[in-house]
Amino acid sequence: MIFCHCAGVTDTTIAQVIESGATSVDEVARCCGAGQYCRPCREELAALLENAGSGRARCAAGNAL
Ligand code: FES
Repeated sequence: MIFCHCAGVTDTTIAQVIESGATSVDEVARCCGAGQYCRPCREELAALLENAGSGRARCAAGNAL
């Protein structure tokens, strides 16, 4: 399912990026492009991140966070 329509990013990709260690909306945006354009998406991402409590690592694209 598409999570971020502006960037065409799926919920699966978002989950992978968060699992890989992204801890902020800006980190998610840098890794996969989601959350760069509109406020509602950024707020949803922030809520997901708040619940995730993930450790730091590298994003799914292999970019250092
Ligand atoms: S829907 Fe994700 S930035 Fe707009």
